Amino acid sequence: MTSTGFAYAHPWTYSAIMRVLHWGEFETRYSAVAEHVPAGASVVDLCCGDAALAARIPQAKSYLGLDANQRFIDHAKRRGIDARLWDARTMPIPQADIVVIQSSLYQFHPEDADLVRKAFAAATQRVVIAEPVVNWATHGKPWQKFLARRMTRVSGRKFDFRHDEATLEALVRTLPSRRVDMKRAGRDLVIAIDK
Ligand SMILES: C[S@@+](CC[C@H](N)C(=O)[O-])C[C@H]1O[C@@H](n2cnc3c(N)ncnc32)[C@H](O)[C@@H]1O
Repeated sequence: MTSTGFAYAHPWTYSAIMRVLHWGEFETRYSAVAEHVPAGASVVDLCCGDAALAARIPQAKSYLGLDANQRFIDHAKRRGIDARLWDARTMPIPQADIVVIQSSLYQFHPEDADLVRKAFAAATQRVVIAEPVVNWATHGKPWQKFLARRMTRVSGRKFDFRHDEATLEALVRTLPSRRVDMKRAGRDLVIAIDK
């Protein structure tokens, strides 16, 4: 039995599942994130998954996707995207104008605040967070909750916690930010935290 959920078996499986979970609103989150990337900015995308953001920020000067899943990294590289194997739990975050983290904080809870603090330290302009606040894992029917938790396992870890708007706002307010912008985009809350 594999210890990582089938959502992460292949970038195509992952993309198909994301399209189902964000039915009719798949592009909404990416557009909301892209709005916070200024022209000429360098971007580091933490836990980048299939690096789908890369094609949606043509205004950026550079994009670097970081993820612990070798298949995702190989797939991104084959598409000409700069992507590297990286472990958020043990490795430093490279400096960039904009540091992005999408749909990934729940995996690190309750240490996700540390990850956000490190992202804030690594960003020279802004951190952009997109985190789902409406989830199958918490809002779904019993079979949807079961499926969502099972298919999003990583290395044997199952994640029961999911953020809502209040927990995300509490997390972000701990940062010494000059300006915080929060907006719902489909199932996600998109938060831009300026230095
Ligand atoms: C739900 S996916 C989100 C992917 C992408 N950011 C998106 O929005 O589509 C979570 C990602 O976190 C990655 N991940 C999980 N634990 C990680 C870790 N310790 N270090 C780096 N990446 C990790 C997984 O491999 C997966 O690609």
